[in-house]
Amino acid sequence: TSNQMWGGRFSAGPDEIMEAINASIGFDKRLASQDIAGSRAHAAMLGATGIVEASDVEAIREGLLTVMSEIEAGEFAFSPALEDIHMNVEARLKEIVGPAAGRLHTARSRNDQVATDFRLWVRERLDQTEEQLLALLRALLAQAEAGAEWVMPGFTHLQTAQPVTWGHHMMAYVEMFGRDLSRVRDARERMNECPLGAAALAGTSFPIDREMTAQALGFDRPSANSLDAVSDRDFALEFLSVASIAAMHLSRFAEELVIWSSAQFRFVTLSDRFSTGSSIMPQKKNPDAAELIRAKVGRIFGANVALMMVMKGLPLAYSKDMQEDKEQVFDAADTLALALAAMEGMVRDMTANRPALERAAASGFSTATDLADWLVRVLGLPFREAHHVTGALVARAEAKGCDLPELTLAEMREVHEGITEEVFGVLGVENSVASRVSYGGTAPLRVKEQVARWSELLG
Ligand code: ARG
Repeated sequence: TSNQMWGGRFSAGPDEIMEAINASIGFDKRLASQDIAGSRAHAAMLGATGIVEASDVEAIREGLLTVMSEIEAGEFAFSPALEDIHMNVEARLKEIVGPAAGRLHTARSRNDQVATDFRLWVRERLDQTEEQLLALLRALLAQAEAGAEWVMPGFTHLQTAQPVTWGHHMMAYVEMFGRDLSRVRDARERMNECPLGAAALAGTSFPIDREMTAQALGFDRPSANSLDAVSDRDFALEFLSVASIAAMHLSRFAEELVIWSSAQFRFVTLSDRFSTGSSIMPQKKNPDAAELIRAKVGRIFGANVALMMVMKGLPLAYSKDMQEDKEQVFDAADTLALALAAMEGMVRDMTANRPALERAAASGFSTATDLADWLVRVLGLPFREAHHVTGALVARAEAKGCDLPELTLAEMREVHEGITEEVFGVLGVENSVASRVSYGGTAPLRVKEQVARWSELLG
């Protein structure tokens, strides 16, 4: 039997394989509430403009609420023969309200319908991402505030470079996730235009009111070009791009947590709530949540690339290829939400190990740059020469098996006779970080200013 929606020009139903490749109901049922909201807004507009009689509109709008409650109650029988969520809902509506249901699709196509539904879905997830980023920022800020003065090693090449503070390191992620937050807000603002009323691709001859439907669905305005409205998916790509960058940040931080929670570092202790044990090694406490964040975000990058590939060669306007947008975005959105929640939980619960941080900060000749700067400032050496002298002092300490502050003044003078007792003042890590007061620097004073600025921004 041919299809009840377009059976007019067909004499045979689809092959089983055709149905399998064509049906999207298995995944696009996640658009049910957006689809019903879109249809209710469209129906109200058809009534207000006199395109459909008020009594039919009333029946349609009530019937759609019944369909929604059936879906919510898990009583709805989704049918692959009806292809997608749009036709599943409409077919059930017809069973409930009778022939009036056939008027709902006036001045509309599944092309503008799906574009509208999907935009509503992505918009909700952008809003959710905003909330989750705010929660993560607050957790990072609490860590930064507590440890604004705790020294730790700063690294380049993962080799000890210069001492920084725990607060400064946490605030670096506040800056990163703060930019992610602003990207989410930008994307939402740009995507908030309503495709409904673009119909199949060219608009419609019915006297519709696109302002009315746009407003009812919380959009800022109707989209201005009907071809673009039904065939653009860059709002979804922008969500995936924003998500990818945030995911990259999550993964870098996750990697640091994996390293920091190792026995060799012991910079942090993750809470039991966000760790796992081993079935054979009783001593183990593994940072699985961090590892899974590091790994899972790959799915988000994959989705971004996959949807780019789907879209890149498509002529205007709609092609069925675009049905492949949803699974990628659904999976990426779920992955991002889980990764953000896990990261927030880990950061909120974790304990920085201050003595270990301080011990590590003082090792690895971390104040060598401070020593070189002192030779420039106090003895007037050119920086290149100071660098050379300091290098010789480091070699000296390395040979002796100690750190720079443990060299005696006599040993230092053998390398450069101008060195005085005063040099020991700059070899301590506390002095080192306290001296880095340039704007954006690691001095506790500066870090606290940034914590205050962000606390005010986040309210
Ligand atoms: N399930 C389809 C999708 O996700 C709905 C739009 C179908 N439009 C069409 N012209 N066949 O893209």
